[in-house]
Amino acid sequence: MVKPEQSASVLKQGRVEVRDVSKIFMDASGGAIEALTPVTLDVAPGEFVSLVGPSGCGKSTLLRMISGLDVPTSGRLYLDGQEILGPHYERGLMFQDPTLYPWLTVEKNIAIGLEARKLHKKREEVREMIKLVGLEGFEQAFPFQLSGGMAQRAAMARALVNHPRVLLLDEPLGALDAFTRMQMQEELLRIWQDRSTTMLFVTHDIDEAVYLSDRIVVMASRPGRIKEIVPVSMGRPRARNHPDFFRLRTKILEILNFVHDEPSGYQI
Ligand SMILES: Nc1ncnc2c1ncn2[C@@H]1O[C@H](COP(=O)(O)OP(=O)(O)OP(=O)(O)O)[C@@H](O)[C@H]1O
Ligand SMILES: [Mg+2]
Repeated sequence: MVKPEQSASVLKQGRVEVRDVSKIFMDASGGAIEALTPVTLDVAPGEFVSLVGPSGCGKSTLLRMISGLDVPTSGRLYLDGQEILGPHYERGLMFQDPTLYPWLTVEKNIAIGLEARKLHKKREEVREMIKLVGLEGFEQAFPFQLSGGMAQRAAMARALVNHPRVLLLDEPLGALDAFTRMQMQEELLRIWQDRSTTMLFVTHDIDEAVYLSDRIVVMASRPGRIKEIVPVSMGRPRARNHPDFFRLRTKILEILNFVHDEPSGYQI
């Protein structure tokens, strides 16, 4: 059982600091692609932060550097004050494609993500995750027997099985139909509230960002950069048809230059 003094320290985990981080890639002809100009971002422990912006503005690049899969050209990144120098189980990852092994059952797909330190508790940990994502009864199913939403739940369980301090989600719901997507948004919020894991969530769906986030990082491209950070002060659960929801959505579209000054009106 977690003692009160322990729970406070658990909650303090998951602070992400991105300090003047840039990334330059080379294209095929040796030219420089400025994927990110120096970016600085602080994410508080347990915060839910979304990244939105046009294709190519560096969202995945930023997430990959936080994951440790990629290194910055300049600048530094930290998790709870420790510099990020490579991948680590404390930073969980989830992508648009669930990337499950087709020849393994749900249970084994989740267990395969377990860090060696936890292998002695394998069964217990895997069972807990299956319950958390609502896949009880499907432990022995193979990926081809799952719906898209169920496959993403399994991927979420695999990303969470090591109790990461931060979960990095790159368009995890992007391939789902609209209804499943809204269901999965609820699931994600439930899991986030249950775990207090810091969430960094990339999405192209502005409504999704407004529905889920504490703050929305709006990015711009060429070069990739942070244009504005928008706090979302609405409580939860949020009503998608509330005027405040609509106002915030409009604000983000304006920052992204998607609102026309003289829109053509509708005649009702
Ligand atoms: N490995 C790579 N080599 C060369 N260029 C790259 C590489 N990865 C990304 N880029 C370039 O860096 C820029 C940012 O790419 P990134 O994938 O981060 O964008 P994104 O915001 O995630 O876009 P999308 O919304 O389409 O996923 C793009 O111009 C892309 O072409
Ligand atoms: Mg991307």
